[in-house]
Amino acid sequence: MADPWESTMDHAVAIARKAGETSSHVPVCFRFIGEESVAAGESCILSDSPTWIIDPIDGTTNFVHTHLTVTSTLDLQVEFGVVYSCIEDKMFTARRGRGAFCNGEPLQVSQQKAVEQAIVATEFGSDRDPEVVDKIFQSLRNVLCLPVHGVRGAGSAAMNMCLVASGCVEAYYEIGVHVWDVAAASLIVSEAGGVLMDVEGGEVDLMSRRIIAANSKTVAERLVKTIVAFSPPRDDAA
Ligand code: IPD
Repeated sequence: MADPWESTMDHAVAIARKAGETSSHVPVCFRFIGEESVAAGESCILSDSPTWIIDPIDGTTNFVHTHLTVTSTLDLQVEFGVVYSCIEDKMFTARRGRGAFCNGEPLQVSQQKAVEQAIVATEFGSDRDPEVVDKIFQSLRNVLCLPVHGVRGAGSAAMNMCLVASGCVEAYYEIGVHVWDVAAASLIVSEAGGVLMDVEGGEVDLMSRRIIAANSKTVAERLVKTIVAFSPPRDDAA
């Protein structure tokens, strides 16, 4: 079996070389966006330079409490995405147009489109503002009462999205995530046949901190009608 990590790195190097060739031999400059660098005051703005979007640990609360799922996520301009579930030793990978894989095995989203039969994943996030918490609970109530078959949360945005890509849950939504939580897994979901949508419908904007990842447009659109939308400050706000 081909080593997905090795081929991912080969692809990164190929992109870098190509960028170097087309820029009159100016050395390629990779940029980084990461939870820790942004917390330290660095910019979260995407440019034309190849950019690694990195979250060393997604599911920090799980990690601190020695709970189950902890993931590391990497992404390069959504050309490819890598999510590593270190507890389970599962490496999720995707390259644009080349499919999504878990430990080298192809991933496919669930074919279940009846929302009443669906498992929906979500998280409570980290904002403890009572008004925000109220909206999160209103959405949760609305989703439960659709009704859906069940609601789950892995404690990691990236892992919830990999569960969508794997066909274990039909959808995941959250308002309050960051670009480094979801960028890599967004490609894994779409390469597994899933869809990404904003919580008010339309195209997802990874800097907006709002996301629906679903197995189908049908399920995503039912969630759009159900979620109480709000807009946290954008990741790329100046
Ligand atoms: C968090 C996790 C959590 C989600 C939060 C994220 P972190 O990431 O993905 O499940 O609810 O919105 O910020 O802080 O563990 O990297």
